[in-house]
Amino acid sequence: MHAQFQNRRYLIPFRARLLPQIFCDTLVIGSGVAGLRAALAASEHGEVILVTKSDVDRSATTWAQGGVAAVLETTDTDDAVESHIQDTLTAGCGLCSPSVVEQVVRSARPRIEELLSWGMQFDLDENGRPARAREGGHRDHRVLHAGGDATGKEVVRCLSSRVCDAPAIRIFDHCFALDLLTTSDSGNGSVVGAITHHPKYGLQVIWAYATIIATGGSGQAYRETTNPPVCTGDGVAMAYRAGAALADMAFVQFHPTTLYVAGSERALISEAVRGEGAYLVDRRENRFMVGRHEMAELAPRDVVSRSIIEHLVETGETNVFLDARHFKPGFFQKRFPGISQKLAQFGIDPADDLIPVNPGAHYTIGGIWVDDAARSTINGLYACGESSCSGLHGGNRLASNSLLEGLVYGELAGRMSAECRPTVNGNGNGNGGRAGLSESSKQIISDIPLSDRGELDLHDVRSSLRSVMWRHLGIVRDGPLMDDVREMIEFWRRYTLDKIFDDPKGWEVQNMLYVCSLICESARWRRESRGTHTRADEPARRSDFCVHDLWSRMQRPEDAPACVPCAGDAAADSDAVVGQGHEG
Ligand code: SIN
Repeated sequence: MHAQFQNRRYLIPFRARLLPQIFCDTLVIGSGVAGLRAALAASEHGEVILVTKSDVDRSATTWAQGGVAAVLETTDTDDAVESHIQDTLTAGCGLCSPSVVEQVVRSARPRIEELLSWGMQFDLDENGRPARAREGGHRDHRVLHAGGDATGKEVVRCLSSRVCDAPAIRIFDHCFALDLLTTSDSGNGSVVGAITHHPKYGLQVIWAYATIIATGGSGQAYRETTNPPVCTGDGVAMAYRAGAALADMAFVQFHPTTLYVAGSERALISEAVRGEGAYLVDRRENRFMVGRHEMAELAPRDVVSRSIIEHLVETGETNVFLDARHFKPGFFQKRFPGISQKLAQFGIDPADDLIPVNPGAHYTIGGIWVDDAARSTINGLYACGESSCSGLHGGNRLASNSLLEGLVYGELAGRMSAECRPTVNGNGNGNGGRAGLSESSKQIISDIPLSDRGELDLHDVRSSLRSVMWRHLGIVRDGPLMDDVREMIEFWRRYTLDKIFDDPKGWEVQNMLYVCSLICESARWRRESRGTHTRADEPARRSDFCVHDLWSRMQRPEDAPACVPCAGDAAADSDAVVGQGHEG
């Protein structure tokens, strides 16, 4: 990691006391499932401001198709819960925190019952209960869905209408959170809010006893991605600048099936399509996953994505296909209305045509390191959902566990943030109440000298960065090629991180440089292949790397990351069926 990434504390120069001041008890940044759920929980104990850089419903959650993995029925034996736990551990390749897996899987039922009581419209089976689908890595049917393939949209509709009705929550949309404010720059202070920018109101300081980051992932760091344009890793980058530890940054999940139409934007084709029985085939209509893994098309995502890439190298073809032509007439349109509509735009009818697909970056597994109460490593800062790394997903996330994590950790973060509020005998965050917060404001100053280095074309930096990340930090990585990426990022950093931008386009590119640099550092350091992280030059899984790697701005550039041991491969491998195929 280059020293400038470490030295730069804020993206812009400012004097906090000269800016408009806004106060709340809890500041939530991000409006996906985790942010919305966190805001609701925090509003039960204080005033909340929810900041989102676009519209409330422009998040990766809204684009989520598959569903929420959850074991619901009281009559389902504990075996059903145990099997969900085991599938999560198996997919995670030894890097999950078993206690977190247990906590999240067991919390599914109350969180889903709560959604149902708030009017969430899950698709129902013939008995009037939420219908259950199957996806990759799941041995049982346990994925709840809504609107066929519009689960995320319905989750956002349900939660956001409740958020809008909550008197204690104010929503600041189109408001870009630039940086967290801390009582000290040396990593041992408390987070006391954030500096934000709104196109109409300009820069503002929002003071809060607790701040929750729920800004989602950084899929936009890759040229091929299923993520919406907002996913630029802003929250992770700002937490790093504030001194919080980030973990497992090497792990980026690649979804096996994004629609591949040359020249068009990539679009997710849900794994539930394979869950309903679609095959993955090549141009000769050969089902190449059969024989590669016992679960064939429904193997965990890392296995399927890698197999597609290997098969393309072997055949010299540009993409593979989903074959759903054997589905009952009308079933595809009924079960997947959104995907059907998308395919129709390109003249593809799944009843008659093969669907061209390729893998794409889908989910950022690494992120802000949090404990089992959603606390980051710095006081006053919590994180939940895709921007965090809780240990649930390990080295490879099990399908449809992300909406579940957002619900569970969102509620947890919102509830736990109450511990930062002042008490009669003192206060949880050491901020000295609102007077203390504004006192802090006088201290916070950011000075950034003007740079006389030349300017690079921002659009070009963004697209070149995304291309090189896809080529060399994608599904299969290689030490020397990652070294090249490091040098390229260092070059772009030199000419981009020294500039002071005044709108989100510049700040997003700066944040993407941070995140890409950390993905690259973590992937270079992890000299093994595990889960989503495959290295051609280090093909074996190594037990000495069965650790979470933690990166912080406070470490010296030459230092190795701090390592937190994991429960390990034994838990993951107790099921030999889906455990195979993970070794490089
Ligand atoms: C999908 O529908 O395939 C995506 C679900 C997920 O990422 O969990």
